[in-house]
Amino acid sequence: MPDSLYHPVAIGPSLVAEGNIFLAPLAGFTDMAFRSLCAEYGADATFSEMVSAEGLARESYKTSALMERAENERLFAVQLFMNSPDPAIRALPLVAAEKPDIIDINCGCPVPKVVKTGAGAALLKSPDAIFRIVKAITNETDIPVTVKIRSGWDSSSINYLETAAAAAEGGAVLITLHARTRVQGYSGQADYTHIANLKKHSAVPVFGSGDLFTPEDALRMITETGADGVMFARGAIGNPFIFSETRQLLTSGSKQQKEISRAARAEAFLRHLDMVVKVKGESLACREMRKHAGAYIKGYPGSAAVRRDIVQAEARRDYYAILNRWVES
Ligand SMILES: Cc1cc2nc3c(=O)[nH]c(=O)nc-3n(C[C@H](O)[C@H](O)[C@H](O)COP(=O)(O)O)c2cc1C
Repeated sequence: MPDSLYHPVAIGPSLVAEGNIFLAPLAGFTDMAFRSLCAEYGADATFSEMVSAEGLARESYKTSALMERAENERLFAVQLFMNSPDPAIRALPLVAAEKPDIIDINCGCPVPKVVKTGAGAALLKSPDAIFRIVKAITNETDIPVTVKIRSGWDSSSINYLETAAAAAEGGAVLITLHARTRVQGYSGQADYTHIANLKKHSAVPVFGSGDLFTPEDALRMITETGADGVMFARGAIGNPFIFSETRQLLTSGSKQQKEISRAARAEAFLRHLDMVVKVKGESLACREMRKHAGAYIKGYPGSAAVRRDIVQAEARRDYYAILNRWVES
């Protein structure tokens, strides 16, 4: 057992994460700006939105823009989805050109459009396909390959031990288990006993995902399961502070005394907005940031009125005015 619950993690023979608190891949959310903000608050590895290997193989510009890395990301993982080794191999040169530290394979996406093609969670039905995909990629590149799975397709086909073993056999050096089935989607409770059981059997480090909304959730997951680390997903949206707070809790066993103030939340949001503006231009950034903004102010009195205003925000100055009112209210 490491001395502290916050500790480095070996990702294969040649890569070490400084710590064990990661930002999960989140389609529609973990773009370069948000990953950069989370890295600033301490995320030890940051995962891209899932990227279609097939799309990349066809050299789609929009797809490869998803893989641009921010300067301050400690470890940057590009997550790919595919249904077979072939598109992955064809996409590899474009992926490698972005110099990610890690390539992660998506074996958990429940969305019908993805599953219908045999990718994402559909791979859970075929551990052999997982093995072949991972093996093909590890044969072609020295970039460490990790795999993100779910517990199984449904409650009658829980097979995370099998899929994780197939991935490791193919050369995967770390497994993240989102402890829900495909049929559960994002509802119901993640079953941490699956993570504990996988940790017992896995030859490679195991990260846990599912229902991590507070630093205490991360502490509970690690102590109950023995997982090597945690991957924050929905809990990080609108709340990049969760990385520094969790590091503090795992390191010292005690929580930061001070609550994050409204002013600090508004400041983080506006910095986030400015980073997106730089990449995407003001108009698109302001529209895209509506989905993040609600999460930054969630749970505070008066947030419903702010959310109503945000729907209308078209320019940076609108957001600045809305958030200034919120801070001063
Ligand atoms: C909006 C959204 C987008 C997601 N996109 C991805 C993705 O691109 N790749 C992936 O492996 N998981 C994806 N996930 C799953 C998360 O990474 C995570 O495993 C899941 O949300 C469980 O963690 P949580 O209950 O703490 O949110 C997504 C989840 C959400 C809510």
